Amino acid sequence: MSVIKVALLGFGTVGEGVYSAIQSHQAQLRKLLGKEVRIVAILIRDQTKERMIDANILVTTNFEDIIEIPDLDVIFEAIVGEEPGRSYLLQAIEKGIHVVTANKEMFANHGHELIQRAQENEVNIGFEATTAGGVPIIRTIKQLLQVNQITKIQGILNGTSNFILTEMRERKLSFADALQLAQNKGYAEADPTNDISGIDAFYKLMILSQLVINQQPNWSEVIIDGIKSITQEQIEQAEKRGQRFKHIAEISFNDHSLVASVQPIIVDSNHPLYSIEGVENAIAVEASLVGKITLQGPGAGKFATASAMIEDFVDIIQHSATKKRREYQSIK
Ligand code: NAP
Ligand code: HSE
Repeated sequence: MSVIKVALLGFGTVGEGVYSAIQSHQAQLRKLLGKEVRIVAILIRDQTKERMIDANILVTTNFEDIIEIPDLDVIFEAIVGEEPGRSYLLQAIEKGIHVVTANKEMFANHGHELIQRAQENEVNIGFEATTAGGVPIIRTIKQLLQVNQITKIQGILNGTSNFILTEMRERKLSFADALQLAQNKGYAEADPTNDISGIDAFYKLMILSQLVINQQPNWSEVIIDGIKSITQEQIEQAEKRGQRFKHIAEISFNDHSLVASVQPIIVDSNHPLYSIEGVENAIAVEASLVGKITLQGPGAGKFATASAMIEDFVDIIQHSATKKRREYQSIK
């Protein structure tokens, strides 16, 4: 049986999730794809950390070791920040390697360029995991766009913020303790500044905007605010009035003008996002034909994010197998 060779960039919360999920779902993947999925290499930054990785997998701090591996099929990228992620993925694309990324900061800034280069090089790029963790919002929007015009997106796009607000209200945890818990659970970024300042949700909203109309609003015109200044007292007062704080990202696509904001909002119990709790994300998409569709599910964490990346991976392998079959048939 032939093999699909993959490499992982990053072995933190997400990279480890992808590693475990590929190992634990090997039989299912083999059945679906007709081949063994073999992790051949993992890129990390710190050689001194102890890791549970099979001895026959190359573990390296040098990306050159990975890009030089013969017949590498797919690279999963789950490292942090715009660089070196962008450069690594561009090199992979140039070499004809398919890529799957979870890195929203990198993708909000450089997704357009990466998609163009991927098209030029006839490889695929999966980015489901960049937005809303395990919720399949990217594929849903792609599907809707085949016939619908999308007019508005509104949602909770940062699991850490929603988790903190929930813990502060339900269990009366302090902001600092709730954030610490979100970090322990692998929801927050290693540096959680972007989570609590609204920037993380902003990046995700920009990725959705690019997907919907191939354009992003002028970043300086988007209102961006986070949850870091919300106090326990404010949460309690809102609760007495039957209201809750929710961190809401929204964008309207009207007559080519884009209006976007990312901010905490006090909502009543009849608001559709009122009852979205913990690490859950929820996204409502308004579209011309279908009306309003709402997706909800785990917005962060090891296996939710791994699930999104592996869904992308399966799509990519199946799509490239179909393409090869068609090319073969047209030659015959
Ligand atoms: P993490 O736990 O901090 O892990 C990051 C991993 O990347 C670590 O293994 C680190 O190596 C490695 N790394 C970082 N910079 C590197 C570099 N320059 N070269 C080589 N390796 C490098 O982060 P994470 O939570 O897994 O998130 C990874 C990415 O996925 C981020 O872009 C994040 O925004 C995104 N994401 C996270 C979640 C989530 O729920 N956590 C969900 C969706 C998307 P060492 O282990 O050696 O330090
Ligand atoms: N830190 C992010 C969040 C991870 O809490 O939503 C998922 O992108």
